Amino acid sequence: MTDGREPTSRDRHAKDTARSPDGTRIRDVVAAATLSAAQDVEVKMRASDLTVRYGETVAIRDVSIDVHSHQVLALIGPSGCGKSTFLRSLNRMNDTVPGVSVSGQVHLDGEAIYGPEVDPVLVRRRVGMVFQRSNPFPKSIFENVAYGLRIAGVRERGVLAERVERALRHAGLWDEVKDRLPESGLSLSGGQQQRLCIARALAVEPEVLLMDEPASALDPIATAKIEDLVSDLRDEVTIVIVTHNMQQAARVSQRTGFFYMGRLVEVGDTTQIFTRPKERETEDYITGRFG
Ligand SMILES: Nc1ncnc2c1ncn2[C@@H]1O[C@H](COP(=O)(O)OP(=O)(O)OP(=O)(O)O)[C@@H](O)[C@H]1O
Ligand SMILES: [Mg+2]
Repeated sequence: MTDGREPTSRDRHAKDTARSPDGTRIRDVVAAATLSAAQDVEVKMRASDLTVRYGETVAIRDVSIDVHSHQVLALIGPSGCGKSTFLRSLNRMNDTVPGVSVSGQVHLDGEAIYGPEVDPVLVRRRVGMVFQRSNPFPKSIFENVAYGLRIAGVRERGVLAERVERALRHAGLWDEVKDRLPESGLSLSGGQQQRLCIARALAVEPEVLLMDEPASALDPIATAKIEDLVSDLRDEVTIVIVTHNMQQAARVSQRTGFFYMGRLVEVGDTTQIFTRPKERETEDYITGRFG
């Protein structure tokens, strides 16, 4: 409590929710994640004054944020605040939504991804995406992972096999599926399917991976695997992850951005956001007063 009031049940709830399931305080968890953050910060992606409208509806307004290389940026905020819209604007996935209009800029390694000469397909190869609901294709496990490689023109069987294995290993799935690669991707469990989709995204070796609530449909064990994976993948890719689970944001990310009603209210070091937010709206959200 910061204002000297007697704690209300809502405050107690907020205090409880500020603990991770194993009882560790968010403060302790984030300290560890942040300490291991890369010291040299390099900007991988930069959104500047980004506004996205669906027809007349403004979904996000004037969002400016940097995505640091080889870090995990978590995006949190109540439902409908524009997290998915923002995420999709980072690899031009919004282009596929009818009636969408985008103003402002997004740069990837200093290049404007909305430039007139830019091919969105190539942007999406460099900036991959994993969705909330795993969506394996009704194809074999092997072909699910090989899919993007084939589209990219990789034909040679040996190369395909090697790249598929590497992606499955990176996604922490190889040992579970190596003896059943010809079986349908749909025969896997929910958590395995999500890791299959991560492997599919990783196979084309993206530089950035966007993850929209990748574990929200999974049980705690499958969720823990995805979280471990996110932490491990940071060496290879830059990650932006949307999550409703604040403990998850605290565990996996080095920086956190809080969205509210289409605006980016605050972004900062994950420790700072969860322990010393600058904005009242952020504090209200992370302490469970709304959302
Ligand atoms: N395809 C669409 N067409 C029209 N409006 C949309 C579309 N997608 C999102 N919106 C609107 O844009 C706003 C932001 O939605 P968005 O899905 O980005 O929020 P979100 O923060 O991801 O929410 P949630 O946490 O529920 O996933 C909402 O008002 C939503 O209704
Ligand atoms: Mg969303």
